[in-house]
Order: sequence, then structure tokens, then C-alpha cells
Amino acid sequence: MTVDAAPAGSTPTLRGVRVLLGVTGGIAAYKAALVARLLVRAGAEVDTVLTRGAREFIGAPTFEGITGRPARTEVWEDVAGSTHVQVGRDADVVVVYPTTAHTLAKVANGFADDLLTNSLLVARCPVVMAPAMHTEMWEHPATQRNVATLRERGHVIVGPAEGELMGGDVGPGRVVEPEVILAELERLLAHRDDLVGRTVVVTAGGTREALDPVRFLGNRSTGKMGFAIAAEAARRGARVHLVAGPTHLLTPTGVQRHDVVSALDMHAEVMALAESADVVVKAAAVADFRPASAATRKIKKAEGVPTIELQRNPDILAELGTRERGERPVLVGFAAETHDAEEHGREKLERKRVDLLVVNDVSAPDAGFGVDTNRVLILHADGRTVEVPLSTKAEVAGRLWDEVLPALS
Ligand code: PMT
Repeated sequence: MTVDAAPAGSTPTLRGVRVLLGVTGGIAAYKAALVARLLVRAGAEVDTVLTRGAREFIGAPTFEGITGRPARTEVWEDVAGSTHVQVGRDADVVVVYPTTAHTLAKVANGFADDLLTNSLLVARCPVVMAPAMHTEMWEHPATQRNVATLRERGHVIVGPAEGELMGGDVGPGRVVEPEVILAELERLLAHRDDLVGRTVVVTAGGTREALDPVRFLGNRSTGKMGFAIAAEAARRGARVHLVAGPTHLLTPTGVQRHDVVSALDMHAEVMALAESADVVVKAAAVADFRPASAATRKIKKAEGVPTIELQRNPDILAELGTRERGERPVLVGFAAETHDAEEHGREKLERKRVDLLVVNDVSAPDAGFGVDTNRVLILHADGRTVEVPLSTKAEVAGRLWDEVLPALS
């Protein structure tokens, strides 16, 4: 029996979407039943996996009754059917609600000691997690490190909210409401096939121009913006080549990464990949100049203050722009500006003959280099301007692909 499957009046926004609902052992596990109910009402097919901890709070029959499908608990069930790989493989999206500190840590570190963590290692689809724990556990550096690792990997962490916690405590750590998760899934899955069949090249990070074997000229780019753009393109179904300057960021799921160091390396890699690309997005901060010659031995202080002669690097974006529109990929440039942003951006758009130019306001500490948020203007070659207010870099990436799509058709 399925309870309330898409009753009259509900909108089937997730019709046919296969959701793997993971439930872990926190008091908020009881709310996971409401998540299951909302998902079923939205038309999703929901398979549930409960951890042992979750079963201390809520039983599998509750989920079987709501979803009309098996709720699994053990890796040892249906061994012949390879349940431990099949459940993760079959999912279009995984939701872990609630997610305990322990499960966050296991997933961040690749543990696979139960059916849920096995499934998460196998799954190649988007993963949404709703942390729930006491404030001290949430704020602990170990948990924050695990959350950062998962975000870098492309997992969507929703919440926690602030409010009443178990035992009467109040603070950050409360699981977000089931409706928030449903809205997140609808947002996440809304454009999932937009870029199927497209090949995109994204550049990220800063280049390093060698002065000698131990020193280089570099810049403050961390690669976060470019990695978010690559992750979003992969999520929408594109074949993605990410050309990355030196960075510790993890490669997003489904992305093919090409590591480079200098502007010349990036030039060679991008030019080769652009031949078969539909879009090239240049979020990298490429050095305009490099030392005319790098010393082969470390420059010693005792030899006096060196004079370093610089020479121009090739402008990769401008070189791609020399080809006629229609005979080259759609080109998206970036520009980091501190003042008169639109004016400077429009000048770069025209000079480099690109289709879209993203102007980054880097005058505030919450936008541009290094941070997880950004504030941009997207300039189109036809004169239109789209303003994206302060948002996460993942959200900016989503808006950017929305703007690129019409140029592809
Ligand atoms: O990496 P993060 O820490 O997340 O920071 C993101 C960012 C601030 C680096 C990013 O959002 C950004 O704004 N990147 C562009 C940096 C910049 O100002 O580039 P530019 O104005 O020097 O170059 C304009 C465009 O030409 C860029 O698309 C650049 O990639 C390209 N270019 C520049 C020089 C060159 N030799 N070759 C190029 O292709």
C-alpha cells in the first residue's frame, strides 16, 4: 500500500525521479518519514536505506508503507542481487536526512561499513545532505573540515537550521524542515539534462610563472569559481574538461581534469581542447606577463636585488575570439574589477570578442578571490546585462549556465 501517492492537487515536480533516501541515527529521523511522503507526493520513486542508528528511532515498515517500496537496512540482504552497489547505481539523487556527524565523517573519508555508505561510494548522481547534531558537534573543526570536503566534492549540504535541539538546548544544529529539502531537490533537478551532448572547457585558478626553481609570480585565485562552474556543467549532463592551475581543490564528480602550471601550459591545453568544445568558460586568472627567462638555479640574496624582465603571455581568450562566431565555441570570459565594473567589463567583452563576460565585483570581502560566495554582472554581447546578487559560487555557476544555454541553440 502506498500512502498519498501524488493525490489530486499535488504537483508531480519529481515525476519518475529515483530518490535514494538515507536515514541516519538522530532524533530528527522521525521527520524523514515526512520527507518520504513529500517525495512520493511529488511523483518520485523512493528507496529508503536506514542505518542501525536510524532504526533505534524509526522502523523500516514506516518507510515501506509510505513509499510502497522496500526499505533496506543491511548490506547482507540480497547479496546475490549485489544490493550494496545496485541501490546507489539506480539513484538519480541521494538525500541523507538527517545526516549525523558520524555519517558526515564516514562519507567525507570514503568509509563503506554499512549499506548507506556503500551506496554513497557507488552513486554518481547528486547527493544532498541535511546535517543534524548538537551545536558543539557542528562547530567542531573536524565536522567543519568534513563538510568543506564534501562541498568541494560537489555534495549539497542543506542547513543545519538554528533552533531547539534535543535535551532543550538551542542553537545551530537543527535539521532543516522536510519542505526545504523538497525545494532543494526541485532546484537541483530542474536543469539536469540541459547540457547533455555538449562538451565544455572550463578554466580555473591562477597560473604560476617561474622566476627560478623555487619562486614564481602568481595571484590570489583559488579555483573555487571555476570548479563550481565545472561541477554545475557536469551535473547538467555536459562532458566537462577542467583546465586547472595549481590548487588543492578536489575534482568534482564527472569532470575530467587537466592540471597546468603556467599561462603557456594553459594556452596549449585550452587551444587543443577548444577544437571539440561547444563552450569555453575562462574563469582562470591567467598571468599577463612571465619572466623573460627563469633562472635555472635559485637566485641568491648575496648576488644583489635582481631586475626581472617580463614578457607578454598569449591572451588565450582573445586568441579564441579571433575566429568567427559559429566557427568557434561560445566564449565566456571573466573579469575581476574593483570599480566602474560594467564599463571595464564591456570593454573586455568587445576587445576579446566573447559572447558573455562575467564581471566580478571583488571590492567586497565576500566576493571574488578565495571565498565561497560571489557577486557578478553577466554581460551579453547583444547588450543585455544580468545582475547576480551575493550568492554561493554554486548558485552563480547555475545562473551562468542558464545564460549560456540560449547561445548554444
Ligand atoms: O578562483 P577564485 O578564488 O574562486 O576566484 C575567482 C576569480 C576572481 C579569479 C574569477 O571569478 C575571475 O574573476 N577570473 C578572471 C580574473 C581576471 O581578472 O582576469 P583578466 O581580467 O586578467 O582576464 C579577462 C579574461 O581573459 C579572463 O577570462 C581570463 O581568463 C582571460 N585571459 C586573461 C589573460 C590571458 N593571458 N589569457 C586569458 O585567457
